Amino acid sequence: MRVFILGGTGLIGSAIVQALIARGHAVFGLARSDASAARLAGWGVTPIGGDIRAPEPWARILPPIEAVVHAACDVNNDMGAIDRQLLDSLLPALAAQPQKPRFIYTGGCWLFGATGDDVGTEATPFRPLPAFAWMVPNLQRVLAATKIDGIVIHPAMVYARAGGVFHRFAQDAAERRTVRVVAGAEVCWPLVHSEDLADLYVLALDRAPAGSSYIGAAVEGIAVGEIARAFARRFGMRDQEPEVASADVIATELGEWARGYALHQRLSGRRRRTTSAGGRSISIRSARSRDLA
Ligand SMILES: NC(=O)c1ccc[n+]([C@@H]2O[C@H](COP(=O)([O-])OP(=O)(O)OC[C@H]3O[C@@H](n4cnc5c(N)ncnc54)[C@H](OP(=O)(O)O)[C@@H]3O)[C@@H](O)[C@H]2O)c1
Repeated sequence: MRVFILGGTGLIGSAIVQALIARGHAVFGLARSDASAARLAGWGVTPIGGDIRAPEPWARILPPIEAVVHAACDVNNDMGAIDRQLLDSLLPALAAQPQKPRFIYTGGCWLFGATGDDVGTEATPFRPLPAFAWMVPNLQRVLAATKIDGIVIHPAMVYARAGGVFHRFAQDAAERRTVRVVAGAEVCWPLVHSEDLADLYVLALDRAPAGSSYIGAAVEGIAVGEIARAFARRFGMRDQEPEVASADVIATELGEWARGYALHQRLSGRRRRTTSAGGRSISIRSARSRDLA
């Protein structure tokens, strides 16, 4: 398959790129800098120069492609407007492709709000974190578009050997000799390893029906305190309890989006929602929650 990826150098996108290349797909990747283009080319991806903030020039000259994976995001106050304008240019450009392309849009677990101890599924109504509320109309637009086969994947909190959501835990342990959690050690996060998530994207590209949505979670919910204690042990601070930071403190430090770290959530990656008939079940095997703690 000829696949165009936006965000191919990111945490999620780079894992998808590796999975696509390993399966022999021809991958094209948007690159906003020479450094990003060089990284993509090093993995065997054909870079296409361009920025999601100015989609018109590159969207018009895309080569023939059969699928698009959108996993690009510039976390800032304008991210909603940037994403909307990106779709304004990209969707008509894709409608002009010789073959109707599949389009995977990346949503996120924070769109489901705090589920508490209930386990959310794809059928759970959206209750988005305000900083990411813009994603809901955008993903609905992708699912409703008739000139593409739109699919949405909602990643859980993504961890990886080289970073991801626990990067801050390691940084805290190394630099502050304490590991901070937000809102409380008992707050649960749903989790997925980047490589497992990438497998879900590849499966979805291959078989998901148009109009379907999937939660990419391999672990429904684990208390962040457990993870923080594991990091403390690893950094030689045996029996040290995590330090609790308020959502306000972390939002001041990192931005309003970081209030998501305070959401107490459980999400299931086992079920599926299809808005069109004939969908097959696709899920990540939870046994493959690699490297956890
Ligand atoms: N990480 C998680 O735990 C998680 C969980 C749920 C949902 N999500 C969602 O998944 C998406 C990807 O997240 P991520 O963690 O993989 O992000 P990330 O690691 O920050 O990667 C962002 C990617 O977008 C590219 N990008 C950023 N601004 C761009 C621009 N102006 N033009 C072109 N490319 C641009 C970056 O390219 P450069 O290499 O040039 O910087 C990079 O490849 C986001 O929408 C995020 O909200 C993430």
